[in-house]
Amino acid sequence: MENSFDNAHFSYVHRGTFGDMAQPKPKKYEITETDYGFMAATVVDVRNPPSAFQVTGVTEPTTTRTMQNHWYLPFCRRLDMQYPSGIRHIIINSATPIDDGQIQMVQLLYRNDTEADCPAEMLIAWDAAIIAEDREILESTDCDATLDVSLKLEAHMPSDRPGLIMRRRLLELLAAHGETEVRRGS
Ligand SMILES: [Fe+2]
Repeated sequence: MENSFDNAHFSYVHRGTFGDMAQPKPKKYEITETDYGFMAATVVDVRNPPSAFQVTGVTEPTTTRTMQNHWYLPFCRRLDMQYPSGIRHIIINSATPIDDGQIQMVQLLYRNDTEADCPAEMLIAWDAAIIAEDREILESTDCDATLDVSLKLEAHMPSDRPGLIMRRRLLELLAAHGETEVRRGS
């Protein structure tokens, strides 16, 4: 879920699809906390290779995504992306924990165009390539992420703010149900 809201990873993790290595500086999110989690809004610059022309509806080498990204406690999100063409690409993710080291990630995609504009097969291939890029990074990190940042086990930067809000809200959710964080070895 943190990865889903990380504006700093596009340029290098997604360099094989839409990421632009020449623009590594992360864009800022405007974040509004809600009872269900938060809504994070931003506009990001992306590469637009010919293989993405039908996906974005844009034929320029670069384009923008106007994003409204909602997080729903604890493990769901809805990402509404709009391109300058007017095409909306809305992704809904649900990450279900299977055990301490595995999740099952389900992704649904809604669009406001037609099968003739961009075939479902092409959309599935495009998003699958992006998911594979995220997966390579995520599976190389420690799955036992620490919610309690007061322990100062990690260093953070401004683009980590969505993840820091998530950790606080998850701790509050646990506390509301009389539970606490259980870390590996604790
Ligand atoms: Fe990603």
